[in-house]
Amino acid sequence: MSGYSNTASHYHGVFVWDVEGNKYFDFLSAYSAVNQGHCHPRIINALKDQADRLTLVSRAFYSDQLGKYEKFMTNLLGYDRLLPMNTGVEGGESACKIARKWGYDIKGIPKDQAKIIFAEGNFWGRTLSAVSSSSDPTCFQGFGPYMPCFELVPYNDIPALEKKLKDPTVAAFMVEPIQGEAGVIIPDDGYLKKVRELCTKYNVLWIADEVQTGLGENT
Ligand SMILES: Cc1ncc(COP(=O)(O)O)c(C=O)c1O
Repeated sequence: MSGYSNTASHYHGVFVWDVEGNKYFDFLSAYSAVNQGHCHPRIINALKDQADRLTLVSRAFYSDQLGKYEKFMTNLLGYDRLLPMNTGVEGGESACKIARKWGYDIKGIPKDQAKIIFAEGNFWGRTLSAVSSSSDPTCFQGFGPYMPCFELVPYNDIPALEKKLKDPTVAAFMVEPIQGEAGVIIPDDGYLKKVRELCTKYNVLWIADEVQTGLGENT
């Protein structure tokens, strides 16, 4: 039970076995946006129960679970509606789509000119939109052409953000409350409060990418 392996075969309690049958303490518990670890009985039983009763719960049909889930989540978060997604990156994509549409229909941005601002060092997945907003060459290099009207601003830099948000074609600013893959970077106290204020002042949507932080923003 010492050393390191980057393979895994099965899991029990705090132990994980690699493909050669060696047993380890699992100090990683998976990672990033899925750090709930492996095989937690409450999660697995909920998955099994639902799969046994009704496997496909597309939003095209109402189910006995959808309303309950929506009520729980909107009460928890204080929002009046939600749109469930399968993955974090799909959530980011949808947020960008909603922001663009809001920009045209509500803010009055001229057609096809809506900009979205992202923080340098962001990571929100590996789709074409996500890599188009990346400042990391290992993520974006070789995958152009990139999504137009995506711009970067340094993380944790309020004056630079304010300069960007003054542009009337900006629809949204997307930022991780604490940057995850960039190395767990916590912004200065008050940064997110100021982001909120500036987004309100310049009529820009704030997209908080909490896929990795969960509900842990520090506003
Ligand atoms: C902050 C953040 N947003 C979005 C994603 C993408 O999530 P998913 O892997 O579920 O698509 C990640 C994944 O690491 C992430 O760290």
